[in-house]
Amino acid sequence: MSETIFPVPAEVAERAHVDNAKYLEMYKQSVENPDAFWGEHGKRIDWIKPFSKVKNTSYDYHNVSIKWFEDGTLNVSANCVDRHLATRGDQPAIIWEGDDPSESKVITYKQLHHEVNVFANVLHAKGVKKGDRVTIYLPMIPEAAYAMLACARIGAVHSIVFGGFSPDSLAQRIEGCASKCVITADEGLRGGRKVPLKANVDKAAEKAPVDTVIVVKRTGGDIKMTEGRDVWYHEEADRVSDHCAPVEMNAEDPLFILYTSGSTGQPKGVLHTSGGYLVYASMTHQYVFDYHDGDVYWCTADVGWVTGHSYIVYGPLANGATTLMFEGVPTYPDASRFWQVIDKHNVNIFYTAPTAIRALMGAGNELVEKTSRKSLKLLGSVGEPINPEAWTWYYNVVGEKRCPIVDTWWQTETGGILITPLPGATDLKPGSATRPFFGVQPAIVDAEGNFLEGATEGNLVITDSWPGQMRTVYGDHDRFVQTYFATYKGLYFTGDGCRRDEDGYYWITGRVDDVINVSGHRMGTAEVESALVSHPKVSEAAVVGYPHDIKGQGIYAYVTLMEGEEPTDALKKELVNHVRSEIGPIASPDLIQFSPGLPKTRSGKIMRRILRKIAEDSFDNLGDTSTLADPAVVDDLIDNRQNRH
Ligand code: WT7
Repeated sequence: MSETIFPVPAEVAERAHVDNAKYLEMYKQSVENPDAFWGEHGKRIDWIKPFSKVKNTSYDYHNVSIKWFEDGTLNVSANCVDRHLATRGDQPAIIWEGDDPSESKVITYKQLHHEVNVFANVLHAKGVKKGDRVTIYLPMIPEAAYAMLACARIGAVHSIVFGGFSPDSLAQRIEGCASKCVITADEGLRGGRKVPLKANVDKAAEKAPVDTVIVVKRTGGDIKMTEGRDVWYHEEADRVSDHCAPVEMNAEDPLFILYTSGSTGQPKGVLHTSGGYLVYASMTHQYVFDYHDGDVYWCTADVGWVTGHSYIVYGPLANGATTLMFEGVPTYPDASRFWQVIDKHNVNIFYTAPTAIRALMGAGNELVEKTSRKSLKLLGSVGEPINPEAWTWYYNVVGEKRCPIVDTWWQTETGGILITPLPGATDLKPGSATRPFFGVQPAIVDAEGNFLEGATEGNLVITDSWPGQMRTVYGDHDRFVQTYFATYKGLYFTGDGCRRDEDGYYWITGRVDDVINVSGHRMGTAEVESALVSHPKVSEAAVVGYPHDIKGQGIYAYVTLMEGEEPTDALKKELVNHVRSEIGPIASPDLIQFSPGLPKTRSGKIMRRILRKIAEDSFDNLGDTSTLADPAVVDDLIDNRQNRH
C-alpha cells in the first residue's frame, strides 16, 4: 500500500469551507457535544415546526432506537425545491445528459417546482396517500427525480428498484413493502441498447399484483398497457393542476426504503426517515465536495442505489446545487464519454466509482487527454476500495494533479458519507478514506469485540449514532438489531474490515462477511447461491468473491450437479442466464466450477475460507483442513480451478 502523501494545496484550503484547524475544532465539538453541534447544523434545512430535541438514540442491544430532531416537522421536497425559488428560480437544478450525446436538457428550479407539483398531483389522483409505498423502476431520466420528490411532497415512501434487476427481484421488492403503485418507463436506454422496463413490470406484477402502474414515455417502444391498471404519465399530467401543497411531515416519518443485500437471506428494506437524513445528506454534500454556489456537480451513480438518492437528488438539491444526471454508460459511444460530458457542461465536481476509473484507465490516456477538463476542481470516489494505481491515474491524468480526490466510505445503511477527506483540510493518501466526518465515531475491534487502539487492523464499527443513519429494516426491527447490533453488542457493525495507520487514517480493506462487491454493486453470496440451486439441474452451490481487475470482485460459483447431469459449457451458459433472470445481469457469475463435492465440516458446514482461497488461486496455505469430512474434495477443487494465473 502506498503511503505517499498529497498535502492540501494552499489555494484549495483557501477557498474551502473548512481547513484543517476548522475540521479539528468542528470534529471535537461534534463528538463532545452532539446535541449542540447538530442542534446548530440541523438549522441548515427549513423546518415547518422547529425541533426542540436533537439526539435521542440508543445502541443498547435490548433497545435499539434512533431518533433525531424528533419533534420537528418539515417537508423534504419543499426543502429541495420550493425554498430555492426566491433566490435561484432560474438557476439550473438538474442538467440531464441523455444516453445519446445529442440529447440533453436543463431543468431550472422553477421548472423543477412545476414538474414535482404535477407529479405529486398525479400520484394523488391515483389514490396514493401519505405513508403509502411507491415502487420506482425508472431509467436515469429527470422523471426519476420528479417522482422521488413528488412522493416526498405528499408523504409517500418511495422504494427505488435499480433498472438492472429482473422481474423476480422487482416482484420481491414490491411485495416486501406491500407497494400498490409502480412508476416505470416504456423502455430504458443505456449504451444504445433498450431495457424492457415496462415488460419487466408486467412480469413482476403477475407475482406481485399492484393497483396502478404509471408509465413514463421514454423511447416510444411497443408495450402492452393493461386496462384499469396502467396509465401514461403524460396523459395523467395533462389532467392535473401544477399546485400541490407540501405535506407537513415529522422528522422521523419515513422518506424512503431501499433494498440492499446482506450476508444472509433476502435483501433487506433499509428505512431512512426525513429530517436527520436530509440534514446529513445536505451537510456532507456541501463539505465533502466543498460545494459552492454556481458549481456544476456530477455524480455518475444511478438513482437505484443510495449514492443516487443522497448525492444526485437529496443532498445537492437541498443545497440549491446544480446536479448533473446522466442516462448512459461510461463507454458509449466511446470510452471518452465522461470527459466529453465534463467539457460540455463545465463540470466542476466529479464523483464516480473505482470500477469505472479502472475500466477507463484501461482504454488509454489519449481518450482523456483529447478533452480539456479545465473546469474540474475536485474528484470523488465511492463504492469500493480504490487501488493506489487507479487513484494515481485519476489524480494525474483526469485531474492533471490539480484536483484533490475524496475517497468516500459509506453504505446504504449510513445514508451519507462517514469516512472521507475534506478537500481543504485533509492531506491525502491514495487508497485511504482518511478521517471521519463530523459526528462520526469509528472504532476498530477484534473478533471478540475488544477495542484495538492506535495503528491496528480489525473490524470497523461505529460507536454512536449520526443523523443520516438508517432507522430500521422495514417491517422487521428485530432483523435490524440482529444484523447490525448483535455481533458487537452496543456498537453498529459495518461488515467491513479496516486498518488504521499511525496518523489515525482509516483504510477500508473490504467486507468481512458474505457480501461481495462487484463493480461497486453489493451482492449477497447467499442470494446468488439460492438463484443457482433453484435451477433443476443444480443440487448445491457455493459462491465466493475473487479479485477482478476491473470489477474489484468477480463472482465465482462452485456448483454440484444433480446425479446424472453432464457438466458442459452449454450448461454453464444456461446457469449464467438463469441467475440473470432470477436476480439480474449484475449477479451473473464470472466463473463457474463444476465440483462433485464441496469442502464441508463433519457437521455439514461449507468451509468458505477454503473456497475463497482456491478462487483466488492461492491455495498453498489453506490452513487447517483436518476438520473436513472428506479432505480429498479439496484436491479435486484445486485441480479444476477456473482462475489460474
Ligand atoms: C459497501 C457499501 C455507499 C455508496 C455505495 C455503496 C464498500 C463503499 C467505499 C470506499 C472502500 C467502500 C464497503 C461498504 N465501500 N465505499 N470508499 N472504500 N469500500 O453502498 O451498496 O451499501 O455498499 O461498499 O464495503 O460496506 P452499498
